[in-house]
Amino acid sequence: MIVIRTPEEMRAWAFEQRGAGRSIGFAPTMGALHAGHVSLLEAARAQNDLAVTSIFVNPTQFAPHEDFDAYPRTWETDSAKAEAAGMDVIFAPTASSMYPDGYSTYVTVEGVSEGLCSKSRPHFFRGVATVCTKLFNAVLPTRAYFGQKDAQQCAVIKRLVRDLGLGIEIVEMPIAREDDGLAMSSRNAYLQNGERERAQCLSKALREAEALMRDGERDTARLTAAVRGSLTGADTIDYVELVDAESMQPVDAIAGPVTLAVAAYVGKTRLLDNIKFIP
Ligand code: PAF
Repeated sequence: MIVIRTPEEMRAWAFEQRGAGRSIGFAPTMGALHAGHVSLLEAARAQNDLAVTSIFVNPTQFAPHEDFDAYPRTWETDSAKAEAAGMDVIFAPTASSMYPDGYSTYVTVEGVSEGLCSKSRPHFFRGVATVCTKLFNAVLPTRAYFGQKDAQQCAVIKRLVRDLGLGIEIVEMPIAREDDGLAMSSRNAYLQNGERERAQCLSKALREAEALMRDGERDTARLTAAVRGSLTGADTIDYVELVDAESMQPVDAIAGPVTLAVAAYVGKTRLLDNIKFIP
């Protein structure tokens, strides 16, 4: 496994591999790798000739008041996990090689990146779409792997790749969960003792709503009210929304594939979870 530090060197390596006809699987991350990330790395490894992960805490997706400085940085354990998962390359670019002085170009994906997370994090998807475009330009992946936990991010990246004709297959991997159901996230490390137990309420509320949907409930207002009523361990609910699974636009009732998505604070930690449902 090699570590590459600049987009130019990454692209030179990828260009040579793709030119030789080899496929590249790519799992972009911000590090602090947990089992959910590892499932992306392993899929990238299994489905391609070569596998690359990136570790880059992307400043443009954090607002000034957010946790960019506090975000966990765990290079030693991350590189060991990447090596164990069979990565050929860790792309860990320096901030200045990604965003040189005077940087002024951003990618905005309209519609699908509005609502849900962008209501409380309006800067977020522009930062994600920009960095993923830059990472894709450097890694030249055949397939790129994202986790369903960040459902709106997945939808944004799929739309970005389709609209710009990037020719990359986006593979959405199922949510990896702790034994008690909590969706795995690097930010779970922020949870204090009692908060960790209370955080289970997100997945439990979604499981209960899924049972209602399987029993035939199709009404958005009743489903979201049921989820809100079950989020007893959350301190603040950011949103509970039922949206079209592709466009991420709200629906009044279930008539096709949907995502039921939750964002809530337990203590100071903002947690996300969701389920997809196809009637
Ligand atoms: O999901 C993440 O870890 C990040 O948003 C991503 C896709 C690596 C972009 O910085």
